[in-house]
Amino acid sequence: MHTIPPHTSLGPHILQPSFPEEVFYAPSRFPLRGRGCTIRYMDALSLEGLTKTYPNGVQALKGIDLTVREGEFYALLGPNGAGKTTAIGIITTLVNKTGGKVRVYGHDLDRDHEAVKKCIGVTPQEVNLNLFEKLIPTLMHQAGYFGLTPRQARRNAEKCLKAVRLWDQRNMLARTLSGGMKRRLMIARAMVHEPRLLILDEPTAGVDIEIRRSMWELLREINERGVTIILTTHYLEEAEHLCRRLAILDQGQIVVEDRMEQVLRQLPEQHFVISLQSPARDGLKFKGFQVHWRSRYELEVEVPAKRSLNEFFERLNAAGVQVASIRHKTNRLEELFVRLTMPDLPGLPDE
Ligand SMILES: Nc1ncnc2c1ncn2[C@@H]1O[C@H](COP(=O)(O)OP(=O)(O)O)[C@@H](O)[C@H]1O
Ligand SMILES: [Mg+2]
Repeated sequence: MHTIPPHTSLGPHILQPSFPEEVFYAPSRFPLRGRGCTIRYMDALSLEGLTKTYPNGVQALKGIDLTVREGEFYALLGPNGAGKTTAIGIITTLVNKTGGKVRVYGHDLDRDHEAVKKCIGVTPQEVNLNLFEKLIPTLMHQAGYFGLTPRQARRNAEKCLKAVRLWDQRNMLARTLSGGMKRRLMIARAMVHEPRLLILDEPTAGVDIEIRRSMWELLREINERGVTIILTTHYLEEAEHLCRRLAILDQGQIVVEDRMEQVLRQLPEQHFVISLQSPARDGLKFKGFQVHWRSRYELEVEVPAKRSLNEFFERLNAAGVQVASIRHKTNRLEELFVRLTMPDLPGLPDE
């Protein structure tokens, strides 16, 4: 909950100070402006003590708490078997939970299961399209499950196919689409009833880098239109690129839940690769920093969290070394993920 400073103003049509409780819901993307009022951000999803034990005794979720705010682009990460798909199954009402609470846009899953379903669009991990159906009927059938009239279903189908750039393929059978197009069709199908929360279980699994990047653009556009997105992915670069908050699940428990930049700050050191404009002299060292020369033009340096990169640049300047470029040696989120979920691993693999 956030209290708004009294000196700022928000249009009277939005805040009515005469309301008895002076509590208003607002999408988290809007700036805080108001007149001595309290804004309570609407949570898109909240999980409290969520547990799942499958009939075979596997404890897939061991008590998960997390909150996703409206408008967020949220990453749910974890190694295989961590419980991501189980959690998504429960939220989307396909899997029965063993215990705990699930709320979607304020609706309690136990009490108002239909309202929860209407708020959510989901793309499953496996492609589950009817491959012998054309694109418009695929979307219209889905809209039918949510009670849209045929006219509205047709209108939404058109809108969604255009949004995922599949309008030109509308008369093709799903089986004739490429892998990336099938994934996009699943996103269109998930969006056809205009859900406020879109949950994507590994939407870019197995698609090549070019298509993955165009998917990122599409997902960002959807999020910018106000749809909350929860994404699970194996590509940590993807999560780092798109999501501002994340949770890492491991063996049914949350090991990290925070803003992306806070999570990345947990790394005890960072490794950079620095390319030079001209060859360095042999055996050049920099006091206080561990350096590995890859060649006379390129070095790797480890910068501990308590030291700054500036300090290292000062050393480079003092030695008269001109830098051509700098980059992280590995993806930082990946590095942290490996440390958190595979603590027994002796070291990180090289590039
Ligand atoms: N239907 C099921 N019956 C029994 N065990 C299951 C079932 N589905 C998943 N599991 C088990 O639950 C754990 C979590 O799986 P899952 O939710 O698929 O993880 P993730 O999506 O993170 O890879 C795994 O140990 C998996 O084998
Ligand atoms: Mg999964």
